[in-house]
Amino acid sequence: MKEFKGKVVFIAGGGSGAGLGQAELFGSLGSRVVIADIRKDHLADAVRKLSAKGIDVLPIQLDLTDRKAYAVAADLVEIKFGTPPELVILTAGVNTFGPAEATTFEDFDWVMGVCLGGVINGLVTFVPRMIKAGIRGHIAAVSSMGAFMGGPGCAPYSAAKAAVNNLMESYYQSLKDYGIGVTVQCPGNINSNIWDAVATRPAHLQNTGYNVSDKTKAVLKSIHSEGINPVELAMQLKIAIENEQFLTIPMDNPEQMLRSLYETYINYSTPEGMKRIAEAQKAQQEMARKMAEENADKAPVGFESYEGTGYGKARGDIDWLPEGKKFRG
Ligand SMILES: NC(=O)c1ccc[n+]([C@@H]2O[C@H](COP(=O)([O-])OP(=O)(O)OC[C@H]3O[C@@H](n4cnc5c(N)ncnc54)[C@H](O)[C@@H]3O)[C@@H](O)[C@H]2O)c1
Repeated sequence: MKEFKGKVVFIAGGGSGAGLGQAELFGSLGSRVVIADIRKDHLADAVRKLSAKGIDVLPIQLDLTDRKAYAVAADLVEIKFGTPPELVILTAGVNTFGPAEATTFEDFDWVMGVCLGGVINGLVTFVPRMIKAGIRGHIAAVSSMGAFMGGPGCAPYSAAKAAVNNLMESYYQSLKDYGIGVTVQCPGNINSNIWDAVATRPAHLQNTGYNVSDKTKAVLKSIHSEGINPVELAMQLKIAIENEQFLTIPMDNPEQMLRSLYETYINYSTPEGMKRIAEAQKAQQEMARKMAEENADKAPVGFESYEGTGYGKARGDIDWLPEGKKFRG
């Protein structure tokens, strides 16, 4: 897909962060943009910001885990524009952090329901409509670097994003026959509002094993304020769409990163490789210990500076976890 002017672009999670950046970029290129989001306030803010830049969008309030509501949203798009979207971008996602072993069913159901279930619902809703209408367009999803590795502090998120990559690869291979391109974008850190994702957590999925508080949200907010600008991220996605590129990773040397990650995987597969991993970990721990010793008189940096906020820790009342894994604040 190389031409965006006049094209109908549906953005799931278009009310904030990466999705809002996409709305701004494709809107400025003359696309007819639909932003779907669960948060009314995000939609209202987005409409205000975009119209101040001369961009008109169709906002739709949608919980993308609700399949019936998704179909209604897709109908609305067709009624308004006379066609299903030519570009679908499945961007919405949520995250929360804590030890894998403290994860509850509700943590899994919420994070995987939005991050993976939301993408599945987008594909199953739009793909048949696009094929039926003979659209030779594109479908993209925003995944994460977390897709390439398990994370001890974000098990549901890493699992969901790994599945999204695999899922999108299946669709990439299948949809070629119809002239529909597929791209998955795997960012590192984005300057967005994902630190506030818990605000959208449904009432029936509130039970979490993690420590979530205003302090932990403040930590996340400061981490994300260092992330990539959403419009810049959208530019990189647009280039990948134009090039019919399946995977796009917004970093300087993605090939090197992928090679080293797959090297770890190769190591996982043999006893010798596991020894190499153990040696590398030992060396890393030794380096960290030395650095901590040398900087003992200075203020803590990196993750150590979050001690005291409970970020990435389990809920304090879980009685079967060691004290070091829990936050008693
Ligand atoms: N922020 C990061 O550092 C980062 C890094 C890698 C990948 N990502 C991914 O980027 C994507 C966009 O996130 P962001 O960082 O821009 O966050 P964001 O919170 O700013 O934007 C996400 C939007 O999705 C919406 N949303 C959440 N649940 C929804 C639901 N059930 N139905 C409909 N909309 C829903 C939110 O209301 C929000 O407006 C996500 O998939 C996220 O996992 C983020």
